[in-house]
Amino acid sequence: MMDWTDTHCRVFHRILAPGARLYTEMVHANAVIHGDRQRLLGFDASEHPLALQLGGSDPALLAQAARIAADWGYDEVNLNCGCPSDRVQAGRFGACLMREPELVGECVAAMVAAVDIPVTVKCRLGVDQDNDYAAFAGFVDRQVQAGAAMVVVHARNAWLQGLSPKENREVPPLRYDWAYRLKAERPALPVVLNGGLATVEAAQAQLAHVDGVMLGRAAYHDPYVLHLLEAAQTGAPLRSREELLQQMRPYVESQLQAGLALKHITRHLLGLYHGQPGGRGFRKVLSEGAHRPGADWALVEQAVQVTRDQAERAA
Ligand SMILES: Cc1cc2nc3c(=O)[nH]c(=O)nc-3n(C[C@H](O)[C@H](O)[C@H](O)COP(=O)(O)O)c2cc1C
Repeated sequence: MMDWTDTHCRVFHRILAPGARLYTEMVHANAVIHGDRQRLLGFDASEHPLALQLGGSDPALLAQAARIAADWGYDEVNLNCGCPSDRVQAGRFGACLMREPELVGECVAAMVAAVDIPVTVKCRLGVDQDNDYAAFAGFVDRQVQAGAAMVVVHARNAWLQGLSPKENREVPPLRYDWAYRLKAERPALPVVLNGGLATVEAAQAQLAHVDGVMLGRAAYHDPYVLHLLEAAQTGAPLRSREELLQQMRPYVESQLQAGLALKHITRHLLGLYHGQPGGRGFRKVLSEGAHRPGADWALVEQAVQVTRDQAERAA
């Protein structure tokens, strides 16, 4: 997710969910080719398995970007066919590609030919007032024919006119049944469902119908849900928020030593105590203190202490 799931966020999410597959923010193929690769593509070794999400609609450029991603050590390249923003539409990529299955097929085929890692697609059900399951399934089939190894379905339309990107994640109705049907009719195709999944129960219920679930906003705002889901799926013992947080310490300290400001990491930790007694205190201490010069791990310890104190008072 753009501006959210940067490398620091992903290191944290990896600690919470050792078995999850993590995705980068979308990076346009042109940026991969011409931009600052260390900044755009750099990641920590702990993040594997990790997918780079690409934006674009030029087969040759996407193939080149996919090759760069593979050389950087990514485990998967994912093509974005779901982003509805104006900027993306002007550049003819993202969700508007749902109407161009042939072009996307050429992009996927070019990427598949360029790399040995899986090439996957993230899409919507359609755009604007499309309500044609056959067109959606045809879009997916074209990408599978081109070599796509898996599809992530954000199970709602993108409305390209009149809605903001935020509204486009909320207003068009969710239709999980289309993803279920896609899977039922194509048992060999790995289908991952995305959209509106916020609890372990909701996520696990989908796994009766599809192969996987992708959590977006819930993973960011309430990241402990990733840990709960991991434990529910694998039977691994549940670890406390504090214990998981402590595991971030070596990474945080090495980043501080390399000159990073604490706030760039702690902004991704704010939701750890979401809905918990003391959670507000945790957020407050971190968000008020992390931008101060010299802020270091001691601030995180202080936030934990305040959280404990508040929770005790509330008990
Ligand atoms: C801030 C933000 C940035 C996002 N950026 C991307 C992106 O770069 N690529 C993408 O495929 N989806 C992006 N999304 C959409 C999410 O991946 C996801 O499809 C959507 O939020 C629905 O899933 P959820 O209900 O689990 O959040 C973004 C969502 C948010 C909130």
